[in-house]
Amino acid sequence: MHTPTEADPLFLRACRGEPTETTPVWLMRQAGRYMAEYRAIRARADFLTLCHDPALACEVTLQPIARLGVDAAILFSDLLVPLEPMGAVVKFPEGGPEIEQGVTRPDDVHRLRTPPAADTLNFVGDAIRLLVRALPAHVPLIGFAGAPFTLASYLIEGGGSKQFARTKAFLYQHPAEAEVLFDKLALVVADFLRLQIDARCRAVQIFDSWAGALDPEDYARWGLRYTRRIVDAVRRPGVPVIVFAKGTGTYFEQVAQTGADVLGVDWTLRMDQARALAGPGVALQGNLDPCRLLGEWAPLQAAADRVLDQAGTTGHIFNLGHGILPQTNPDQVKRLVDHVHAASTARRSRA
Ligand code: CP3
Repeated sequence: MHTPTEADPLFLRACRGEPTETTPVWLMRQAGRYMAEYRAIRARADFLTLCHDPALACEVTLQPIARLGVDAAILFSDLLVPLEPMGAVVKFPEGGPEIEQGVTRPDDVHRLRTPPAADTLNFVGDAIRLLVRALPAHVPLIGFAGAPFTLASYLIEGGGSKQFARTKAFLYQHPAEAEVLFDKLALVVADFLRLQIDARCRAVQIFDSWAGALDPEDYARWGLRYTRRIVDAVRRPGVPVIVFAKGTGTYFEQVAQTGADVLGVDWTLRMDQARALAGPGVALQGNLDPCRLLGEWAPLQAAADRVLDQAGTTGHIFNLGHGILPQTNPDQVKRLVDHVHAASTARRSRA
């Protein structure tokens, strides 16, 4: 069995498109409510406390590492954390996030602040420094932030949304103020990702979770343009940038133009189609539907095998097409991780 080394963990080699003995795997939302260990900590501390307290964030990040045997860790935090120093009030009641003092009128964008991350978000840097010491050498830490469109949607809607009608109305009615808002968000996000890289995250992922709400023209203007700016601003040798723009399969070739080293793929696009649309020199990450984990093992295994077959053995990081759902059985997740390692290793010896 292959033992990855500190200098060259499996995950980072796959991000660079180098051949690997095994397909690396990590899972979006691998730390969270589906784990009893997480619920036990949450019984003592509310969600934002976990995000703000470096020791607790470190502890929760580590929970799935040993238990699942995944090949990368993702910093425990939330997309909405960097909106707080901008002046928004972020709350996490039972039903999902709520944002107050966000953007309801065009003038509100001028009120939002853009302080340096080093002055306001250093607790994230502290959590990363703790993690870098605590993680096994072969498990790199991934930092993350939201893309401007997804973050703007929370500021404008005041929470989650299905249609994003307020957000899109804002773009169409107030394009000049929307540009001010997206400029500010791109600045804050790039600075925040650089803080995470300085603290020794070995890769970063930009989540544009709700980009799929945009038509191809609007994606070019409000998604691609700003995401590419962020990718350019954070690029450092040896630190792969992953862009996950969910729901964008019908214009995936535009997502490839962000310049990301790795593109996240959701389950609505086949991995071989994603490969063709992305072109050469880009690694792919995905793309099992997280709901598959709610079903029986046999169809789940078959679906995982299809992902491996369609993605090929080089430049693929196995992941879900979105986060693990809270009702998922952790044993099923562990079985999936083990299967991906074994089945992807077997595929190499067959080839
Ligand atoms: O393990 C990991 O993936 C790291 C932790 C992580 C969380 N949120 C923890 C979390 C990450 C990477 C995120 C990113 C995030 N947050 C995204 C992008 C990824 C995605 O899912 O599309 C988004 C859109 C958010 C905003 C957000 N935070 C929502 C919509 C919710 C409510 C839904 C839910 O699952 O509760 C949250 C809360 C949240 N973020 C929880 C966790 C573990 C649950 C909070 C709790 O413990 O009650």
